[in-house]
Amino acid sequence: MVTNQTIPPLEDELGDVLEKAMHRAGLTDESLAERSGVRAGRILDAIDYRSDLTPDELRRLAATLGLNEVGLCALGAGQYPQPAIGPLPFCVWPLRMPHGIGVANAYLVGECGSDRAVLFDTGAGIGALEAVWPRSIRRLDAVFLTHVEPEHAGGLCEIVERFEVQAAFVPQGATAPCGRPAGEGEKKTFGPLEITVFATPGHAAAHNCYLLRAPAARTGGTLLISGDLVFAGSAGGGYFSHEQQRLNLRRVLHAVPPATIIAPGHGPLTTVENELRYNPFVV
Ligand SMILES: [Fe+2]
Repeated sequence: MVTNQTIPPLEDELGDVLEKAMHRAGLTDESLAERSGVRAGRILDAIDYRSDLTPDELRRLAATLGLNEVGLCALGAGQYPQPAIGPLPFCVWPLRMPHGIGVANAYLVGECGSDRAVLFDTGAGIGALEAVWPRSIRRLDAVFLTHVEPEHAGGLCEIVERFEVQAAFVPQGATAPCGRPAGEGEKKTFGPLEITVFATPGHAAAHNCYLLRAPAARTGGTLLISGDLVFAGSAGGGYFSHEQQRLNLRRVLHAVPPATIIAPGHGPLTTVENELRYNPFVV
């Protein structure tokens, strides 16, 4: 069960997606215009959030940039599909904290009705977390970080101390005092939750996603804490490696059940099948 179904806006608009894809392809507005046949001025307008690109132009840009054309056209029309979020055999509290002009997400996950949970990412710090913390959760069994960036990993040590957390896990290679490394394929169990680690460098050199299931539950349902690997309608920038970001995005989305709910580091929840079908960066 997801406790707060308020849907925040998508993390990225068409202009953001085009800009990330241009970086990935190493293209400027001029070189993209030359290859796609779409005028540079119209590309720049789209990047400045003043897009009136036609479906034909969007298709040409998608082909040149190696993007999913259906998803790009949907974003361009302001109609990116957002799926219904189905039930889960545990409770999820999305903790949405303002970050710049958008929102950064952390998540609490635990057995419904219990006062204990596992925390995924820590937001910008303990103050930001307190503002959105559910009163019912008083104990933390563990903390997992997807990656160490200020809006996702602030105040880890304070949280470990405050809740006397026995286990705080960070991606292998991450520099994070108070955390110990968790690498590809490792499984951790806390109460009813089984957590499997996917090492997914690309956005950052050290980045993990976490797949959650409750093996003993009567009903199924899986949750992917995706950090900045994938968002609804977009993906994190490949600041460490565009190629590894692209490969890990495909690998993880194909490795988990299609009905898996994705809980990303920014923006709304989505599902694996929705993003396999529409995400501009999944082709
Ligand atoms: Fe982020």
